[in-house]
Amino acid sequence: MLATTLRTTATRSIATRATAVAVRTKYTLPDLPYDYNALEPVVSAEIMRLHHSKHHQTYVTNLNMLEEKLVDAQAKKDINTELALLGGLKFNGGGHINHTIFWTNLCSPKDFDLPQGELLTAINRDFGSLETLVSKFNTATVAVQGSGWGWIGLNKETQKLQIATTANQDPLQATTGLIPLLGVDVWEHAYYLDYKNARPDYLKAIWGVVNWKNVAERYQAAKN
Ligand SMILES: [Fe+2]
Repeated sequence: MLATTLRTTATRSIATRATAVAVRTKYTLPDLPYDYNALEPVVSAEIMRLHHSKHHQTYVTNLNMLEEKLVDAQAKKDINTELALLGGLKFNGGGHINHTIFWTNLCSPKDFDLPQGELLTAINRDFGSLETLVSKFNTATVAVQGSGWGWIGLNKETQKLQIATTANQDPLQATTGLIPLLGVDVWEHAYYLDYKNARPDYLKAIWGVVNWKNVAERYQAAKN
């Protein structure tokens, strides 16, 4: 009897702690791995400051707010409210995931280096050459209607690299199953101040600040 009471008390205590931890855990805006002006002249400091400190911060703030509402709705078994929150969670959660990848996919032109090693081998195997990959990526990504993202992802089943696009803030892995290696934001907020409506010019220039070392690290982690 005493043992049962102790077990029940311990279980309740663990559950309470777990709930408390879950409620306290918040998503936070990650620091950029470089200064706001590091990507100039390809992407201006003005765009980077707004994009990171305003746009990405808003996704994080909304994601945290929606998660709190979800936890509250789950506690009340209010399935109508839970379902009504899902669209916002996908949009803001996707926005947080996508931008977190995007920042690390970029680097200063001074630190730029072409892809090497196993990543270059995979690019040549699956696309013929880096030039062909870039050309196909830009063609697919220019054609994204409205706002969205262009991606290079790894198909775990075939172990091949694939080009994909997603709409709005739909995250690549949850939407297609591909593991994201490189994402390029083609929302107008990512380029309009520098390139106006010329998305093709932005896409042509962005390859000068792609951090292929980061893409290679993601490739190694994804294929293992
Ligand atoms: Fe963005």
